[in-house]
Amino acid sequence: MEVTKSEARPREEVGVGYAERVFRRIQEIIDDTGGQAGALIRVLQQAQGLIGYLPVPVLKTISRDLKVPISEVYGIVSFYHFFTMVPKGKHVIQVCMGTSCYVKRGQRILDALKKDLGLEPEEITPDGKFSLETVRCLGCYGLSPVMAIGSDVHSKVKASKLKDILDSYQ
Ligand code: FES
Repeated sequence: MEVTKSEARPREEVGVGYAERVFRRIQEIIDDTGGQAGALIRVLQQAQGLIGYLPVPVLKTISRDLKVPISEVYGIVSFYHFFTMVPKGKHVIQVCMGTSCYVKRGQRILDALKKDLGLEPEEITPDGKFSLETVRCLGCYGLSPVMAIGSDVHSKVKASKLKDILDSYQ
């Protein structure tokens, strides 16, 4: 039985067979640790690597099988920024809403993306291609407004250029 990261799909597309295979694989990951509570972060990382995010049923399964209180599991997931409980797109768009970008019309960029993609922040397009987030600063002062798509930083972004930028991602 094999579930690969490339099979990670938005929630709407996840069927029962897929869910069963995911839970079976997560069980194998937990079994590989010998069920040790100290393996919590490693198990969370591998589970997220498998499906792209950490939905509540997965957290409850990990909590139960590692015998770690669910409050502790939630605490770890919310403490480390690389864990997410919401699905992410193939390309994660981060729009800077820090002061410098905000005064340089960052809000306009965000509004245009919301309209073009039909998304609110923390949502994902139905095809799983893009998800949208806001961030406080991308560390690019003087280049505002700034947004990042994956590891690519786009500076001095104009709303009129957004379509071209998005079209350059497959
Ligand atoms: S405020 Fe936008 S990059 Fe820092």
